[in-house]
Amino acid sequence: MDNNSDEFRNDILEGLRKPHQKSTPSKYLYDTVGSQLFEYITEQPEYYPTRTELKILEKHSGELIKSITKEIVLIELGSGSSKKTRYLFDEILKKQEKLYYFPIDISINFLDSIVTNLESLNEKLVVKGIPEDYINGIKQCNSILFENNISFDTFSRLIVFFGSSIGNFEPEDARDFLKQIRLNMHDKDFLLIGFDLVKEIQLIEPAYNDKAGYTSKFNLNLLNRINKELNSNFDLEKFDHYAFYNTEENRIEMHVRSRTDQNIVIPGNKEIFRIIAGETIHTENSYKYDKLKIEKLAARSGFKVDKIFTDENNWFNLILLRPS
Ligand code: AVJ
Repeated sequence: MDNNSDEFRNDILEGLRKPHQKSTPSKYLYDTVGSQLFEYITEQPEYYPTRTELKILEKHSGELIKSITKEIVLIELGSGSSKKTRYLFDEILKKQEKLYYFPIDISINFLDSIVTNLESLNEKLVVKGIPEDYINGIKQCNSILFENNISFDTFSRLIVFFGSSIGNFEPEDARDFLKQIRLNMHDKDFLLIGFDLVKEIQLIEPAYNDKAGYTSKFNLNLLNRINKELNSNFDLEKFDHYAFYNTEENRIEMHVRSRTDQNIVIPGNKEIFRIIAGETIHTENSYKYDKLKIEKLAARSGFKVDKIFTDENNWFNLILLRPS
């Protein structure tokens, strides 16, 4: 067994052992099937974040890019479909001849297709995909820039983290993550992050309970994945998708909820995991932010808010940060 599947197994076992609330790390929702289902979620009428962030970029990329005076090197954490980034390419290439773009993503297959696509799309774009986790990826970009004599005196790096994926982190983990990024940045670099904002529950909850049922499929797919990779016996018919807004914690919680009393076994492991009717396994948090929380997060991780870009309803923010 390789290290990755060992880690997966240990993480799942550890989560199922938790006495008060069983849980699983949300990163495991994104296997190939899960990532595809997430793409479908972003197209659902109830799921406002993707559409709203795209609108903000469409309207404000010009102003955003103008506020950076030096030549730009673009680094993207989680390359996604690059649809959002395209607005930035266009604006950046209005002011400079050539753009180095480094998408960082642990999924190599995804990266490869993006790189070939983009370079054929625009000859002024130099794309180098980095198959690493985000922090190591940024370090690798720094080495590549250094080796190619791309000096920080003349270039600013713009690191972008779209999609409100920051909301998947526990607040203190978000702070540590931004601190790590800060440690690998120069004073004249920029960080752009998408935050989904606190708003009426009537708007947030439907986004995670779409009528077409893609969020439910996405959530339950985790059990399928565990079955496939660990030969376990989760019966998907005996679980429901359950997502609600926790107003105290300002977060959407996603769970799978058991319809009956049942036993889960994972071959090679002696325990029997008893789940009673109505009990849940917590599969994801999606934190929603407000201005004050964003400012605090920035301040505690070594940044200051440079500019705030928002949509007409103030549902979503793109925050441009600078090292403080
Ligand atoms: C990919 C973390 C931004 O929290 O809105 C969507 C994930 N989960 N529907 C989010 C998700 C269920 C999404 N992020």
